[in-house]
Amino acid sequence: MQNIIIFGAPGSGKGTYSDEIVARYDMGHISTGDVLRSEIKQGTELGKIAKGYIDNGQLIPDNLMIDILAKTYDAQPAGRGVIFDGFPRTIAQAEALKQMLAERHHNMGVMVELIVDEETLMARLLNRAKEQGRADDNEETIKKRFAVYHSQTEPLAKWFEAEGMRHTFTWEGSKEQMLSKIFNFLDTLK
Ligand code: AP5
Ligand code: MG
Repeated sequence: MQNIIIFGAPGSGKGTYSDEIVARYDMGHISTGDVLRSEIKQGTELGKIAKGYIDNGQLIPDNLMIDILAKTYDAQPAGRGVIFDGFPRTIAQAEALKQMLAERHHNMGVMVELIVDEETLMARLLNRAKEQGRADDNEETIKKRFAVYHSQTEPLAKWFEAEGMRHTFTWEGSKEQMLSKIFNFLDTLK
């Protein structure tokens, strides 16, 4: 399978569908949010910097994020596609990803965009707060994450469209339905 960029608002299912896609197509999975949470847990310098941004619902600065992405990508086993989950989130990150992959003679692949209404997103994240206790899953921070998504990340969808990579999937109330639409599309790719 080629590379996949999974794109969507907080709680849209990037992580959930990535796990299903990884299982079906045997791919690598890079979640920049998971990478940062692991750094925080280990108490690294990067983790200390990242915590301030994450707890406040803000994005980590592009230069830091681009550096982490390249290191994480190069640590993946060669020869199979990777799902990028939560990256890129700004135009600068998208341009950097394009350049990084071109330098390695790899393709960007396809972008899978998840569209879910905000009421459903909020309900999912508040529910996850009860189950997992992620530090940024509280109503105040979730609202900031939505605002950051609208102002800094959503405009990127047009960037992907211009690259001919954008494929949009809209939530209609059932996870199985969403998944089967995504799989039907991915099955047409190599
Ligand atoms: P990140 O970890 O990427 O968080 P996010 O974008 O806010 O998205 P989530 O992980 O909350 O949601 P998701 O779309 O993965 O949905 P999930 O599958 O979990 O980033 C966190 C922070 O790190 C950022 O705010 C930023 O500070 C920093 N960061 C990360 N990347 C960065 C970057 N590139 N640049 C700068 N900063 C960066 O689903 C949500 C819940 O819904 C789950 O509990 C799931 O089980 C549930 N659920 C219920 N029904 C469904 C259904 N039908 N489909 C899918 N999920 C469902
Ligand atoms: Mg996630």
